Amino acid sequence: MSTSRSKSIAKKLTRMNMVVCVVALLLACTGFVTYDFSSFRQVIVRNLSIQAQVAGSNSVSALTFDDPSAAERTLSSFRLAPSIVSACIYTADGKPFAIYRRDGNAPIPTEPRTLAGREETYWYEHGNVLLLHTIVFEGKRAGFVFIESDLRAMTARVKSYIAIAVGVLAFSLVVALLLSHFVRRSIAEPVIRLAEVSRQVSREKNFSLRAAPGKEEGELATLVETFNEMLGRIEERDRDLQSARDNLEKRVNERTAELAAANKELESFSYSVSHDLRAPLRSIDGFSLALAEDYADKLDESANNYLQRIRAATQRMGVLIDDLLNLSRVTRSEMQRQRVDLSGMARTVASELVKNDGKRQVEWVIQEGVEGFGDARLLRIVMDNLLGNAWKYTSKHPAARIEFGYERSNGNSFYFVRDDGAGFDPAYSERLFGAFQRLHGMTDFPGTGVGLATVQRIIHRHGGRVWAKAAVEKGATLFFTL
Ligand SMILES: Nc1ncnc2c1ncn2[C@@H]1O[C@H](COP(=O)(O)OP(=O)(O)O)[C@@H](O)[C@H]1O
Ligand SMILES: [Mg+2]
Repeated sequence: MSTSRSKSIAKKLTRMNMVVCVVALLLACTGFVTYDFSSFRQVIVRNLSIQAQVAGSNSVSALTFDDPSAAERTLSSFRLAPSIVSACIYTADGKPFAIYRRDGNAPIPTEPRTLAGREETYWYEHGNVLLLHTIVFEGKRAGFVFIESDLRAMTARVKSYIAIAVGVLAFSLVVALLLSHFVRRSIAEPVIRLAEVSRQVSREKNFSLRAAPGKEEGELATLVETFNEMLGRIEERDRDLQSARDNLEKRVNERTAELAAANKELESFSYSVSHDLRAPLRSIDGFSLALAEDYADKLDESANNYLQRIRAATQRMGVLIDDLLNLSRVTRSEMQRQRVDLSGMARTVASELVKNDGKRQVEWVIQEGVEGFGDARLLRIVMDNLLGNAWKYTSKHPAARIEFGYERSNGNSFYFVRDDGAGFDPAYSERLFGAFQRLHGMTDFPGTGVGLATVQRIIHRHGGRVWAKAAVEKGATLFFTL
């Protein structure tokens, strides 16, 4: 009952009750009063007719003996009836014979109306009723009696009717108010209760709530029942949905755990494989070195040449194994995220590259104050690889320009490493992130093809994305986000 909407139902019911009550009462009063008026008017006319008959028969002898004062005495008895305005007795040929006036100057018709063969007639004029009666004595017309009466009795009756109607109306309204209070309890209350519960359900999303069944019967009881039923069904469906969701989540978790375990196993396998490969490789390298040094003079030139090739191949294999180890370390180590000064990192990498090969003409354009949030050690590997590639793939050009920075465009922001070196066919720009995928020959640009695969793994671990744009001999740009 706390909200305005539930109040309004109760209010509406009360208002409806009152309106129905008032309208019914007014209609009943109107009907009753109309009926009563018409019958009361007839009563007035009948009384008037009796009075006229009495006055007529009392005036017969006065008319016969031509004694107007006796007739006037008869008429003066009308003083006892205050509603009679005037009266007159006419002779048989229609001459006024005796006159009575309540107030001195009431007009009297100088001759009676024609009766058109009837003994008596009445009519209404300026709110009064007028009656003309024929005096008959021994079968002959002896004269006429005329009486005019006002309708003050009727006015008094109207007044008392209005007073009674107002009283009854007031009393009925009080009764209706009391009644509507009970109606409200039996009709509005269940609806209000229902509204309250449904509001609570939608607010708390709690489908276990129920509307309390009351004493109501019929449609209201059905309403409450079906509402509760509906809530029950929703609750059931909710439960099913929740259990399906839980089930699904459990299965996803299981699969994820399985996958993670498999992944880990694979990684530790490849780690130990590459790790274990180094020892025999070192032996091969060591013994071929010993052979080359101790037996150089005993072997001919082509044998020495073969030995050199064996040594070059083992060294290359060593680099490959190192790269593979780095690749698997990238995913094995714990991440420690922090703010990282990428501009500073780029400058360090650049100066190391320059230190190893100072003769090259390379312009470095490193944007100031570029920062990233991530694992510093891993991000260093990213910068090493990207700037290292830019350095390597510009080495065939006499002069080069290498850029590092941070850019925003179309609502996206990303880091980039740009060079104007050898570039590559953009059709393969997806492929170069796979391990051992290379777009350039070993003789042109040495490398293992593991660098960008490592970069991609690191970026993915940071939740970022890496991609490339390039054109043959027009340089390449590598973009990444964190
Ligand atoms: N800056 C670059 N300019 C041109 N080609 C590039 C550049 N960076 C990467 N590439 C291409 O992508 C391939 C894969 O790169 P990467 O994984 O670093 O291997 P690597 O550098 O050992 O060859 C490279 O072999 C090269 O063909
Ligand atoms: Mg590389």
